[in-house]
Amino acid sequence: MSNINQLVAKKLAGEKLAMLTCYDYSSALIMSQSDVEMILVGDSAAMVMHGESSTLPIDYHTMAQHVRAVAKGAPNKFIIGDMPFLSYRKSLDENMQAVETLMKAGAHAIKLEGVTGNETLIKHIVESGIPVMGHLGLTPQSVNQLGGFKVQGKSVDAQKKIIEDAKTLESLGCFSVVLECVPDELTKELVKYTNMITIGIGAGAAVDGQVLVLQDMLGFSSSFSPKFLRRYLNTEKLFLEAFNAYAKDVKNKQYPDQSEQY
Ligand code: KIV
Ligand code: NA
Repeated sequence: MSNINQLVAKKLAGEKLAMLTCYDYSSALIMSQSDVEMILVGDSAAMVMHGESSTLPIDYHTMAQHVRAVAKGAPNKFIIGDMPFLSYRKSLDENMQAVETLMKAGAHAIKLEGVTGNETLIKHIVESGIPVMGHLGLTPQSVNQLGGFKVQGKSVDAQKKIIEDAKTLESLGCFSVVLECVPDELTKELVKYTNMITIGIGAGAAVDGQVLVLQDMLGFSSSFSPKFLRRYLNTEKLFLEAFNAYAKDVKNKQYPDQSEQY
């Protein structure tokens, strides 16, 4: 079982942490047997599981269904439930309803994007005994304000702001922060100022750990190719070969054969 103390111990020992996203039971069953320490049930589920063009459409009830499935498949992993768009921008009551739903579905921590306006809530969640992971840099729930999914923290001012935001997250009690799509030079600077566990995606090598979206690293699609993405499998090709081999066997009456019939 990976717990928060083990994650902190590994960080302090200089051991890098591996995190992947996961949304379903079958993938979680396999991931549970792997060396990956942390599983993020990300709101990227909206895009890779539900075909949406941004993360905005998913709600916390749907997120909780994904968390529940992953928690059943990988009970030995540290699971972070991602708070979806606007689910933490309402009244404290409503925000905590979303947090409660994700935690009761099996998350061990929650993640939310940004800082400004979230300060009271983050403190309240931490004081409720729930580890909170922040998310800075490219925050996809703000895609309409950012004008697209692009690298953040390019200017000196933007870099200062992200470092200040990280300090604020730490002072509010966050145990960890995701840095998404920021220049490596910013990450190198930022890690000097924080004791939080830093997890990067497109944020260079200076962080404590990395995260990738499962479908991206497995190569489900050849069309999404950001610079940071390393594909560990060509799933698109493997699936397609299997689908076509099956279709061919069915059409040629080679499936099922004698041994595959009752
Ligand atoms: O939803 C997600 O997959 C994420 C990661 C990219 C950090 O938030
Ligand atoms: Na997310």
